[in-house]
Amino acid sequence: MKFDTKVVRAGIKPDPATGSIVPPIYETATYVLDEVGRDKGFDYTRSANPTRKLLEDNLAAIEGGKYGVSFASGMAAVDGCMKLLSAGDHVVCSDDVYGGVSRHFNNVLARYGMSFTYVDSSDTNAVREAIGPETKMLWIETPTNPLLKVTDLQAMATIAKERDLYLSVDSTFATPVFLRPLEYGADIVMHSTTKYLSGHNQLIGGLVVTNRKDIYDEMKFIQKTIGAVPSPFDCWLTLLGVKTLHLRMQRHAASAQRVAEYLESHPKVARVTYPGLPSHPQYEIAKAQMSGFSGMISFELKGGLPAGKTVMNNVKLCALAESLGAVETMITHPATMTHADVPAQERQARGLADGLVRLSVGIEDVDDILADLEQALRKA
Ligand SMILES: Cc1ncc(COP(=O)(O)O)c(C=O)c1O
Repeated sequence: MKFDTKVVRAGIKPDPATGSIVPPIYETATYVLDEVGRDKGFDYTRSANPTRKLLEDNLAAIEGGKYGVSFASGMAAVDGCMKLLSAGDHVVCSDDVYGGVSRHFNNVLARYGMSFTYVDSSDTNAVREAIGPETKMLWIETPTNPLLKVTDLQAMATIAKERDLYLSVDSTFATPVFLRPLEYGADIVMHSTTKYLSGHNQLIGGLVVTNRKDIYDEMKFIQKTIGAVPSPFDCWLTLLGVKTLHLRMQRHAASAQRVAEYLESHPKVARVTYPGLPSHPQYEIAKAQMSGFSGMISFELKGGLPAGKTVMNNVKLCALAESLGAVETMITHPATMTHADVPAQERQARGLADGLVRLSVGIEDVDDILADLEQALRKA
């Protein structure tokens, strides 16, 4: 199957009992056995569920992987990946990860004896230098949230191989439409399916995809043992959302390009970051590695925080909201919203300015999005 066909059809068959083209929701906790020791492949929904299995098979195929394991949230998926490691292990992590990820690493996993070094992973040498004898994993987010730094995955895979490390990639921003990290040698791809994959702001979910049977077996064990599983209904809603992923992503990316170019030429805007702009520091890598630049933009105004706040408080169509990757355009203030738990000093060191504005460009008519930004920028 070609990619767009996989999005709509991979792993999905008409319901054998009724022919229903949309798979039913198996909203059940348990399954009746045929006899002692013989079931129909399912015994208890924490371990496995038919609706969840359809979603896992569908998303694994779209990522170009053999195995998918879904979780109740992106953060539960991150935690699942970290459970491959043990006390004493060290992780080299992209410095501009989603704030919830660094909060989990620093405030929870550090208590269990794990350690983390944050480096700008768009600098391959910095990654190499941060690796020590206890390092077991590279945790790469590309593009990052919110500064949209892009990491060269081929280079990361080479390092991971040389040093016998897991290479895990949070590919939430890129989606498999634009980037498939397993093709570059990643061991694990992780998504917050809350975002583009489900796509309609309708649920919270997470996913891990791998080609490695040993990792899959461990993740399945973790999934059923920890129990942070998505509900059958959320799996079903995600399956429906995924069906238009390829179409939505093309529109997200085309509109984001227009909005990024508009912002870059606006006299009140100091800096725009979008991987599809030639001014982006890793534009060449992004162009070579991704087949599109997705829908996320960050920008700063010449008037700094006060001007940024004026824009965010005056948009009418763009929703001032915490999330991203859905059909509605959303505007976010990372310093007080998504990255509020990153200490101020650390935010400054990362280059995450208090005045930074993050925009998740939706699939409305782009002229309406531009008009909304224009009227808000006029007030700044
Ligand atoms: C890049 C990235 N990874 C992981 C997460 C966590 O996902 P969730 O909110 O579904 O737990 C987020 C959430 O914003 C994110 O942006």
